[in-house]
Amino acid sequence: MKSSQRKNMKYLITSALPYINGVKHLGNFVGSMLPADVYARFLRQEGETVIFVCATDEHGTPAEIAAKEAGLDIESYCQNQHQLQAEIYKSFLLSFDFFGRTSSKYNYNLTQHFYKQLDNNGFIEEHEIKQMYSLEDDRFLPDRYIIGTCPNCGYSSARGDQCENCTSVLDPTELQNPRSAISGSTRLEIRKSKHLFLKLSALKDEIQSWISSHNNWPNLTKSIAMKWLNEGLKDRCITRDLNWGVPVPRSGFEGKVFYVWFDAPIEYIAATQEWALEDSAKRDWKTWWDRAEDVKYVQFMAKDNLPFHTIMWPAMILGTREKWKMADYIKGFNWLTYYGNKFSTSAKRGVFLDQALDILPADYWRYALIAMAPESSDSAFTWELLQIKVNKDLADNLGNFVNRILKFASTHFGSTIPEGSPPGNLEQKLQETCNTFVIQLKSFLRNMEFRKAAETLCSLWSIGNQYSDERAPWLLIKEDREAAAQVIRTCINLIYFYAIISKPFIPLTAEKIFDALNISEAERMKSFSNAMDLNVLPPGHSFNVPSPLFRKLDDAEIKQLRIKFGGVAE
Ligand code: MF3
Ligand code: ZN
Repeated sequence: MKSSQRKNMKYLITSALPYINGVKHLGNFVGSMLPADVYARFLRQEGETVIFVCATDEHGTPAEIAAKEAGLDIESYCQNQHQLQAEIYKSFLLSFDFFGRTSSKYNYNLTQHFYKQLDNNGFIEEHEIKQMYSLEDDRFLPDRYIIGTCPNCGYSSARGDQCENCTSVLDPTELQNPRSAISGSTRLEIRKSKHLFLKLSALKDEIQSWISSHNNWPNLTKSIAMKWLNEGLKDRCITRDLNWGVPVPRSGFEGKVFYVWFDAPIEYIAATQEWALEDSAKRDWKTWWDRAEDVKYVQFMAKDNLPFHTIMWPAMILGTREKWKMADYIKGFNWLTYYGNKFSTSAKRGVFLDQALDILPADYWRYALIAMAPESSDSAFTWELLQIKVNKDLADNLGNFVNRILKFASTHFGSTIPEGSPPGNLEQKLQETCNTFVIQLKSFLRNMEFRKAAETLCSLWSIGNQYSDERAPWLLIKEDREAAAQVIRTCINLIYFYAIISKPFIPLTAEKIFDALNISEAERMKSFSNAMDLNVLPPGHSFNVPSPLFRKLDDAEIKQLRIKFGGVAE
């Protein structure tokens, strides 16, 4: 895209909506909300117009069952859990412009609108279907509450809606040896019930050409979309025999609701509507969703969500024959694994976000997780890797540099930046190296290559250490005070620069550095390019020495964490 074109673009960013039933784990977080936040923060800092919306995904059987287990009615359960998740994301410094709920009335209205459009356009069909009824549980079992062997890969705990192992989308009747996920009972009986189907088959060509028109998508996204297309698109049931959800406005469908995956993506729009209502004089949701050709829409999600976002949600939009904004870019993530397995909510495996914050502050996790993001393949979370990221990158590389320099400066030169001799060749070289790296960092972030971005950021932190080791102001001070002063002035400017470029990753630490350097609010939102001037903080500018920015994780603590969280290879 030409930069003249890009100038007028604005960015709509959504992260897959976290399901309501409980606090999410590190695996969910690193594959959706966290990278979306780093991207949103970066773009805002670059001066772009951005909205970043998300919500809790509240319908479906898992919510019903979790509410029952908690002894609450479903509304109260969702209310509590929404609140809890919202607070946790705030603690992780996620910069949502709006964090909504799929159970909002805006989403109900829009969902019914989508359905009516699809129906008017002939993309809805009614069929009587046979469904599993569990005698033991005294209810119809929705797809994901039937467990059995995957017909495609043989995985023995495949859910009726999708196989976790091979990602193929399933119909529960295809499972071999089916059983109830609620009671484990195999006393299942097939009963008839009327349901609505979305005619994906009739939209196949349009979906295919929409996908083909996006050559720039990551391989993972494209390959999962193509895999699903090539398996042949079957018409998909979009209603359920449940009370909790968006009612189906059609006679004969009383007591039925839309399938959770039908209403969930519509919440991206509904959340934007609610965001706009908060300041309706200035905000218009339609400019983001209705024929919004000046909007670049980027979605973030883990790979199990890709089929729904590359096929089903686009099909729903195309079938309305209305001009809803469709994704321009879909950033998919692989799995973050935990000692040889997937993190799993149902199996309570791994580390959950509330537990994570009890161990370390948000910034540590934000940086470490982005540095190990499962981008090109699955990647392994281990406590040992976390230890390296925290101790080497954050504490030694960035934290130690900041504290060492500022402490030295205040000991030898007092509480303001010293002047010293003019910069020389080494400083010139330092500036050039930083320029080169920061251009790379910007382009990795623009392209959403998060691991490479984190690596480049860490290299930039190293550059400061290399420079100060080379100039060794602690030795220089004895022979040439002016030269030492000049090194310190350069290093303090480097610290300021680090705060700016690190901010999308570790916003709280960046603020601590800004505080220590007495940087005004306006200056804190500087773009990366404008930050790159090692002379911007002048002599005489005052600063404080902050307390150490990061603590380290020692071996004993790592060992304890491994024991506590079951991090043992199987
Ligand atoms: N709640 C789903 C999950 O956790 C994701 C829903 S994304 C949406 O996998 F687009 F449908 F909202
Ligand atoms: Zn499978």
